[in-house]
Amino acid sequence: MSHPPIRSYVLRQGRFSRGQQRAYAELLPRFGLAYRAAPLDWRATFGREAPVVAEVGFGMGETTAEIAAANPAIDYLAIEVHTPGVGSLLKQIEQGAIANIRVVQHDAVEVMRDMVPAGSLAAIHIFFPDPWPKKRHHKRRLVQPDVAALLARKLAPGGVLHAATDWADYAEQMQAVFAGEPLLEPAAIGFTSRPPTKFASRGQRLGHAIRDLYFRRP
Ligand SMILES: C[S@@+](CC[C@H](N)C(=O)[O-])C[C@H]1O[C@@H](n2cnc3c(N)ncnc32)[C@H](O)[C@@H]1O
Repeated sequence: MSHPPIRSYVLRQGRFSRGQQRAYAELLPRFGLAYRAAPLDWRATFGREAPVVAEVGFGMGETTAEIAAANPAIDYLAIEVHTPGVGSLLKQIEQGAIANIRVVQHDAVEVMRDMVPAGSLAAIHIFFPDPWPKKRHHKRRLVQPDVAALLARKLAPGGVLHAATDWADYAEQMQAVFAGEPLLEPAAIGFTSRPPTKFASRGQRLGHAIRDLYFRRP
């Protein structure tokens, strides 16, 4: 019998404000894409030809909205499982009249595996992934060799994998995992810059150093 996959998240409750609920109900049909095991056609998805960036685990979506608004010539596939977070990003899409984001509410590993065409992404963003600090939970960390290989295959030549964390040992794990992936090489900068989020500020308050890691597919 096969075991269920080990997921990098636990679905949690958390506050789902009225504004987020309304945005979720009204805007998900417009800006959301249902998970399905078939590759997306970016041109049909966004209605134009443009570089596509995928973000894994956008949280409440502040960074996603800010980056997408600042880069209108780039399209963003934003992936998150947490319902209030999806509502929050949809609300920001509406408030900012942001046209270049599509949202998928599903396990990002499966979305990347099944919906994202190989060699098609200009960048992948993984900002402050859940640190799973206890040793017995390390197996839940998103960045593992098999996921790194999957993500690398989805990058276009020259595409950048940009990850950030304030957990020193997770930064070391990511560095080792990405450096060990044959399709990736270290890079000096990201595709676009990363504005700070609440996780970044929290890390700084706790005195954690924030590490941004950049790798590219040659
Ligand atoms: C610590 S939060 C960081 C959120 C955001 N990137 C930021 O910097 O504010 C990590 C987020 O990743 C999401 N997440 C973890 N694993 C995921 C997966 N496999 N697919 C989609 N989302 C995931 C969690 O639900 C959570 O919202």
